Amino acid sequence: MKVYNIFPLTIYQSKIEIEENEKKKLISLIKDMKVNSKNLEYYNKVGSWTGDTQGFENLHHNPDFINFHKEVKKKIIEYLNVLNIDQNQLDIYVQRSWATISEGKEHIDKHSHLQSHISFAYYLKKSKGDSKINFYDDKRHNELIPGLFESPTANKRKILKKIDLHNSSSISIDPDEGDIVIFPSKTPHSTQPNVTNNERISISADITLIARDSELLEHLTPPISNWQKI
Ligand SMILES: [Fe+2]
Repeated sequence: MKVYNIFPLTIYQSKIEIEENEKKKLISLIKDMKVNSKNLEYYNKVGSWTGDTQGFENLHHNPDFINFHKEVKKKIIEYLNVLNIDQNQLDIYVQRSWATISEGKEHIDKHSHLQSHISFAYYLKKSKGDSKINFYDDKRHNELIPGLFESPTANKRKILKKIDLHNSSSISIDPDEGDIVIFPSKTPHSTQPNVTNNERISISADITLIARDSELLEHLTPPISNWQKI
């Protein structure tokens, strides 16, 4: 017998070490942002506090976060290398960058970032037991019987004898503090609900890849220098 498991989704995980003093400073700056939230009615204490919805969506312009974003760029290049994408022909732009704070059972529902190409979560502060990040496969190529993978009754009857990568529509990843997780922005993701967080703080950003040279090139976004505002 031969089995082909084809069409992977590649999630990248690595570490960005930040010195303890620097880490404390960034945590304190992020907590100050929360104190200065500009849209508190949007923060409902069920969902996590997300800086991009509170007026703090440009961490990449904040001088205190420049070093961090430089380290991120190295990881993005590694991720592109894993996918055999020639980064030398692309410019890498951070279009939006923000922090998220999760306290108690606050969590983030399933969503994707359709306006960008690559997204990441970096765990600036995370205790063991804080919520994991979930990724979802909405295509479910192996779900022969639609609904089978998430059917509570089929689950109770153990129609699936064992849950593994062949029959899963969602996977949890449990990064440690200092880890960065990089993924295609279009991949649906969430954080685990019903888990008590001990003030979990992460930084995310949306990244767009732009062609350095658009000559004879379809599908990629041409260099911004070629654009004309009308
Ligand atoms: Fe997200």
